[in-house]
Amino acid sequence: MYKWFVTTSLGVEDISGGEIASIANCNPVIDIGKVFFEGGLDVMYRVNYGARTINKLYLLLARDRFKDLNDIYKVAKAIDYTPILRPDKTFAVRCERIGEHPYTSIDIARAVGQAIIDSYMDSKGVRLRVNLDEPDVEIGVFVRFDEVLIGVNTTGYSLHRRKYRVYNHPVALKPTLASVMLRVGGYRGQPLLDPLCGGGTIPIEASHLARKYPIYMFRREYLFTKLPLYDPDLDSRVKEELLNAVNNDVYEIYCMDISATHLRGAMDNAKSAKVIDTITFLLRDAARRDNYRDIEAELIVTNPPYGMRSHSLKKIESFYRSVLTALRDSYCGREMVLITA
Ligand SMILES: C[S@@+](CC[C@H](N)C(=O)[O-])C[C@H]1O[C@@H](n2cnc3c(N)ncnc32)[C@H](O)[C@@H]1O
Repeated sequence: MYKWFVTTSLGVEDISGGEIASIANCNPVIDIGKVFFEGGLDVMYRVNYGARTINKLYLLLARDRFKDLNDIYKVAKAIDYTPILRPDKTFAVRCERIGEHPYTSIDIARAVGQAIIDSYMDSKGVRLRVNLDEPDVEIGVFVRFDEVLIGVNTTGYSLHRRKYRVYNHPVALKPTLASVMLRVGGYRGQPLLDPLCGGGTIPIEASHLARKYPIYMFRREYLFTKLPLYDPDLDSRVKEELLNAVNNDVYEIYCMDISATHLRGAMDNAKSAKVIDTITFLLRDAARRDNYRDIEAELIVTNPPYGMRSHSLKKIESFYRSVLTALRDSYCGREMVLITA
């Protein structure tokens, strides 16, 4: 059994906890911006390929209390790095810090980096090389008040970068948040509408969910391939299992926007994401009730325009009133999930 934790956007930890519980068949422990759990090595592939609401998966190396920088050095030095770092591989330490400390995140990263070099020198007699730009192995250090957490980043860059986007909407939602919203709404492939779809993030995420497309279909780079514990056979077996579950059924998913540019962008994104055949694109005004007459939606998940950038407060109030009234009149009794930031 290994100890793992994932990082999430703030406020969605319980949703990610539910997702992790079903993927890793475990009892996760929810924390702020993180979810902790235990599981075998297969979890590394399952979570990285299948978890749609999380940012990164870390292998937990140490979790402890500390008083000063020297304590952090000692916690890091006590770890055995030989199972995660080969002598010829480079590493980098990235630190995130919350709370007031008389030292910076850079000081902490430097202390942990030195501890890793010293620990490896003691056990293998080799001085590891640091590469801050493109390390083979990335060690994450999370300091929160008097707690330090050290882990190995198995993911690399955040999983919210799905790598299918060819059109970047100016205020595109993170796909991870789109997935959180779909889980909140209990999406299971029922007819779905995003009346303010922009670049199509929510409809595309819904299509991938319904069709069970694993994330690695589009995003190929993962840091775990550089770890000594990487097992290519297990990786292939998990990939095959996930691919066997894929379906290419057609779902009723409606994507509406008033802007032809954004709608065309959404179509380009859907094409790149291999789901253009299951989404209906509609160039329509979401504030007009007539525009919903031919759409039988059971769930509405959407991300309306927000903030002062494009609308004055008065205009945005009347815009929300007209869109929400049109939706209520058309879909009374149905579920709706919306995010306005
Ligand atoms: C916050 S953005 C949605 C971004 C989208 N979730 C994404 O990830 O790309 C809101 C969208 O609402 C659209 N919109 C604004 N007023 C509209 C209206 N009356 N009817 C339909 N769409 C509208 C805008 O063109 C914009 O693309």
